[in-house]
Amino acid sequence: QSFFKPIQGASPPPSTSRNTKISVVGVGNVGMAIAQTILTQGIADEIALVDVNADKLRGEMLDLQHAAAFLPRTKISSSVDYSNTVGSDLVIVTAGARQIPGESRLNLLQRNLALFSKVIPPLAAKSPDAILMIVSNPVDVLTYVAWKLSGFPSNRVIGSGTNLDSSRFRFLIADHLDLNAQDVQAYIVGEHGDSSVALWSSISVGGVPILSFLERQQITYEKQTLEKIHKEVVEGAYEVISLKGYTSWAIGYSVASLARAILRDQRSIHPVSVLAKGFYGIDGGEPFLSLPAQLGRSGVLGVTNVHLTEEEAKQLQESAKTILEVQAQLGI
Ligand code: NAI
Ligand code: 2OP
Repeated sequence: QSFFKPIQGASPPPSTSRNTKISVVGVGNVGMAIAQTILTQGIADEIALVDVNADKLRGEMLDLQHAAAFLPRTKISSSVDYSNTVGSDLVIVTAGARQIPGESRLNLLQRNLALFSKVIPPLAAKSPDAILMIVSNPVDVLTYVAWKLSGFPSNRVIGSGTNLDSSRFRFLIADHLDLNAQDVQAYIVGEHGDSSVALWSSISVGGVPILSFLERQQITYEKQTLEKIHKEVVEGAYEVISLKGYTSWAIGYSVASLARAILRDQRSIHPVSVLAKGFYGIDGGEPFLSLPAQLGRSGVLGVTNVHLTEEEAKQLQESAKTILEVQAQLGI
């Protein structure tokens, strides 16, 4: 029984119309920050939440549903059962252990590897055409694991990677120069974490290449100043974790921006974790790490050919080596 009566002569809705569905697996700090940012931005018609903690899961679902009057209309469901995720367009995985203060991301690997072997196969089976977005840490290695366990083509398995680190980087540069971070084009690439690489040579502000501008104006800048900014990017998450116990808001916005780029076929460029084999002199294995990639409805459309200095290329290859060494121990 419908509340509204159809107008005379109306045809039934087309059978081809379908909803955009996003599943968020893991409703902890990160999963919920992502879900609520996606909700406020009206990116999906349906959000399906999954977690092993049934009470927390239902509580989070109800709390979000109670905001319905203030949000774009979105169906929100939750279940401990993966059947809730059937037919997802995008599956975002945030389940897993997080760092305690001072702990590295790579140290989480064994715990989250065991979890991924339980979580990824059913998710892939329920949504065989979905794009998988991995957020759990260590994100690069776990994106590789998800690629292997899902059997999905590489363009449909993406790690949130250094999209977040790059936002931290853009914030710090903007703050330093008193600018709007959205006008700063700057990438952090490589591992999301300790061996990440700052691409100083390609930074521009409003289309002006920053390093050559400073040189032309004969403004001296200290290499140490640049290194200090990159160090702050690397240490940013550690500082937040030591202060509030976890990071959440920035990763929420970061992943929502990736969800929008993919589901709305924005064809925009984001530094995310992709199969990096063959790019920028990275060879000898199948590492997943962040490179500036074009994202659209089919996932990764391609990798941008940014000019790297010799030093930047070397640092990127070193970062790949770090990830490959960890991957080699996985036995998958
Ligand atoms: P949390 O502890 O708040 O939440 C984790 C959630 O996973 C819990 O609700 C737990 O019940 C759930 N979970 C555990 N096993 C599960 C399973 N088998 N199926 C479904 N759900 C399961 O942790 P938080 O702060 O949300 O962090 C989650 C992950 O995200 C961590 O690995 C963290 O390191 C990572 N992270 C990654 C970032 C990135 O940039 N890639 C940024 C911030 C965090
Ligand atoms: C972050 O960078 C901890 O990976 C997480 O916020």
